[in-house]
Amino acid sequence: MFGAIIQLFLVFVISCLTVIYFFFRSNYGYWKKRGVPYEKPNPFFGNLLFLMRRSFWDVFYDFSKKYKGGYFGIFLSWRPALMIHSKELAKKVLVKDSDSYQDRYAYSGADGDPLGSLNLFTLKSPMWVQMRHEVSPMFTSMRLRGITELMNINSSELVRRIQKDHIDNNAPVDLKELFSMYTSDTVAYTVFGIRVSALKELTSPLWYITRHMVRWTFWRGLEFTMVFFLPAIAEFFRLQFFSQPATDYIKKLFEEVVAERQKTGQSSDKDLVNHLLKVKTSLKLPANSDSHLADNLMMAQAAVFILGAIETSSTTLTYMLHELAYHPDEQEKLYEEVSAALKQSGKDVLEYDDLLKVKYLTACMHETLRKYPPVPHLDRICNKTNKLTDELTVEAGTPVFVNLVAIHYDEDSYPEPEQWRPERFIDSNDSDNHDFTFLPFGEGPRFCIGKRYGMMQIRTAVAQMITKFRFEPDAPEILESDPYSVILSPKNGGKVKILPRS
Ligand code: HEM
Repeated sequence: MFGAIIQLFLVFVISCLTVIYFFFRSNYGYWKKRGVPYEKPNPFFGNLLFLMRRSFWDVFYDFSKKYKGGYFGIFLSWRPALMIHSKELAKKVLVKDSDSYQDRYAYSGADGDPLGSLNLFTLKSPMWVQMRHEVSPMFTSMRLRGITELMNINSSELVRRIQKDHIDNNAPVDLKELFSMYTSDTVAYTVFGIRVSALKELTSPLWYITRHMVRWTFWRGLEFTMVFFLPAIAEFFRLQFFSQPATDYIKKLFEEVVAERQKTGQSSDKDLVNHLLKVKTSLKLPANSDSHLADNLMMAQAAVFILGAIETSSTTLTYMLHELAYHPDEQEKLYEEVSAALKQSGKDVLEYDDLLKVKYLTACMHETLRKYPPVPHLDRICNKTNKLTDELTVEAGTPVFVNLVAIHYDEDSYPEPEQWRPERFIDSNDSDNHDFTFLPFGEGPRFCIGKRYGMMQIRTAVAQMITKFRFEPDAPEILESDPYSVILSPKNGGKVKILPRS
């Protein structure tokens, strides 16, 4: 009897393994059958064997050197996905044929993770269309002008903190952490209307959230990776977009701020919570939707703004200082230009309109975003079969990735792409995508909603730091990237030598 059970069990296991084997084998023939060049898959992992050992950014960089054609196939474990390397095809996917690529591939859907599934980044059409339309007025030029004043106040605080810690007390520098505090202080006000300062070493609820959101431990990195690249697994294990402590704390803070406003009747017209409360009253929700949907939708937008505003800008600031340290001539040129603009304006700090006119500052920032796009890829899922080229029809359900590193390192667009040369962008303005060769904020209907906000907070910080300090190299020229982080992040935070100017 016992022997029969073992036999049955073995037959069952062997049958399962055989089915799985043929399933993978048939999937791994997908691109070959279509005559598409592809990256040879490894059993079960497909092309994801590098996970948690190398960063996505580095792997996308290697792809950019290996595949010079317009596209090629990869396998996300068992699932075939298309990788785009040419600006023409990127334009087709992101803009011209965007109705066939409306949503992101990243996981969105568990009831247990409303903040993760209802935010603008993960939300799917048609709900996304409504939310994008409602949230966009938060980023008008008029609002941004007001927010820039606060960014300048926090940039002055950043300068004071650098002076105190790294010049007077010679403490070790962790650029990523320093800039995360700076961006966290601004977003506390723009999202929740609260004036707190992590830079002043005061207790900041936003810094608590931020630290939990962007601490890329092995498990947190793995969870976020699954959300982006293996959404079926994320769904099965009910993984979360934001970490649990960050999720809990955002909910608590959001509810406290809303309760306080209801109690006192006071509201600030400037912050996102206030705007979201107004949106909530006019929201058109699907019939029979859960009674918490409206509240969850509001909180999810607050959460994604925090993540969007902190992580990408602090990474860009880190790499920009790193490159300035390695380019003393360019650094002096930037100093001269900012000093001249300050003198001309007669102000203590450059304001919104002044900052937009400092051409070399824009050039240095754009060149940093070209060389180090913080988000190395744009992801979409094909929702309607699409004829991408004469040779290739993309089937509905296929994940499609635009490799930004490949587009930004194309030698025809940017000769010697490994070199950091701000002159490439000397006449650049913020809305110019340089004939689709410069896409750090994405493009098309789903381009980054915080693009101008992000660039402004980089400008205010650099403009204030460069007039007070000089930067010299204190780390290898090629910074190692963090293998646990889906977006680009320097492994050890990044550091430069900071010296006073006078
Ligand atoms: C240097 C700064 C930033 C960079 C490089 C950046 C980059 C990006 C990229 C590449 C995307 C995807 C675009 C696409 O798929 O076409 C994106 C989307 C998004 N970003 Fe940013 N971002 C930055 C700053 C910000 C800021 C400051 C915020 C919020 C205040 C923000 C909020 C968002 C949101 C909500 C989305 C999703 C938009 C949608 O799908 O409708 N980002 N960002």
